[in-house]
Amino acid sequence: MNKVKTVFFCQNCGAQSAKWIGKCPSCGAWNTYAEELIQKSTSSTVHQTGSNERKQTAKPLPIHTIAAAEYPRLMTPDMELNRVLGGGIVPGSIVLMAGEPGIGKSTLLLQVALRLESKKILYVSGEESPQQVKMRADRIGIKNDSCYVLAETNTALLFQYIHELKPDIVIVDSIQTLQTNTIESAAGSISQIRECASELQRYAKESGTPVFIIGHINKEGSIAGPKILEHMVDTVIQFEGDRHYSYRILRTLKNRFGSASELGIYEMQGEGLREVNNPSEILITQRNEPLSGICIAATLEGIRPLLIETQALVTAAVYGNPQRTATGFDLRRLSMLLAVLEKRCGFPFGLKDVFLNIAGGIKVEDPAIDLSIVAALISSFNDMPVSSSVCFAAEVGLSGEVRAINRVEQRISEAQKLGFERIYISQYNKVSKSNKGIQVIALSKVDQLIQALF
Ligand code: TYD
Ligand code: MG
Repeated sequence: MNKVKTVFFCQNCGAQSAKWIGKCPSCGAWNTYAEELIQKSTSSTVHQTGSNERKQTAKPLPIHTIAAAEYPRLMTPDMELNRVLGGGIVPGSIVLMAGEPGIGKSTLLLQVALRLESKKILYVSGEESPQQVKMRADRIGIKNDSCYVLAETNTALLFQYIHELKPDIVIVDSIQTLQTNTIESAAGSISQIRECASELQRYAKESGTPVFIIGHINKEGSIAGPKILEHMVDTVIQFEGDRHYSYRILRTLKNRFGSASELGIYEMQGEGLREVNNPSEILITQRNEPLSGICIAATLEGIRPLLIETQALVTAAVYGNPQRTATGFDLRRLSMLLAVLEKRCGFPFGLKDVFLNIAGGIKVEDPAIDLSIVAALISSFNDMPVSSSVCFAAEVGLSGEVRAINRVEQRISEAQKLGFERIYISQYNKVSKSNKGIQVIALSKVDQLIQALF
């Protein structure tokens, strides 16, 4: 006999409770509990996902006796995706791709599926009909006979098709549309997402097939559904970017098989997403006449050097409270840099409105961008341009000291490759004196920077 049961789930963190509560004891959010109907059918213990290999029981083994499994990674033709995944797709891994609606998640994964010619790929589309997927494939303009589209949201039927087809890669667009028979609540609810994801996870691990899951993100910008979804998958990648720009950034948030600070850059075009192999070129605007308030920072995203333009505008404050606005940079860090300039170098920023912008819609967390921001602020304050052939890479401390950063050699060589003539770094960074073609200037205090530039 089936037992009908309802449980209250926190829609924020996925915690469950037998009765409604106002404040979630696990994540602290208010009024997030919603009732969901759960019906565990008696057959639910027999999952249709896997083979019978799991019947044998696991035994504890000494770690040195375990043979290291060689994971031959599958390289996709998309070099940006390979890098973000930590060097190709790991067999049996489960990858969650999250992003805002319309950012290009479906386009990216369909494009990769179409370009992987030798592999059999199953694209499960719960959001769009096969005709719509076909229209997108026509736009991308790549023909591939081994890419199959399935418009099915019921996981039991889905796994049946998977066992018939035996695909090399499964793409699920999106996890919020899937539904399992073992749970009665609506598709997209916390318990459904959790159960469907665990069925997919079991399938991936048992069959060794990599599975890509597309997930929505909610208003606040975090991945919709329970936090446990992020724990269950091996890799979480986020696709982001400003809708008004055509550039898109693919970022790793979690990776069990590689670095979690990788970045891939794409450009959305009429026929799909184009990989941007040399991002520094697009992030620096081409200008003929020198402009004040613009400086170039040599930053590092993951292991990849990126030269990024920082723009500052300093104007007289018209209201009592001076305004500070920062796009792509931490506002508190900007206030700190302004305080340092005010106290240590005597610039009266307290009377000025300050606007800061990182070009290209990119968010930067690398502290090495500080020196470039300081230079842009002073350049705009004095209305004196900084030559477009110099760049900066150093952190600025509270007493106005210029601090060392990591991997300075890599940044210098990237700047040199892009034709910069001078780079300002910290005196505490040890650099071998073999940089031909670029002048490396070491500073210890912000004052020295001001003397050197203006
Ligand atoms: P889509 O992949 O449907 O986004 P998501 O799955 O993340 O919701 O991409 C939607 C946007 O991409 C849509 O606004 C149109 C644009 N687009 C292009 O500019 N060129 C293309 O070739 C394709 C397929 C989409
Ligand atoms: Mg989509």
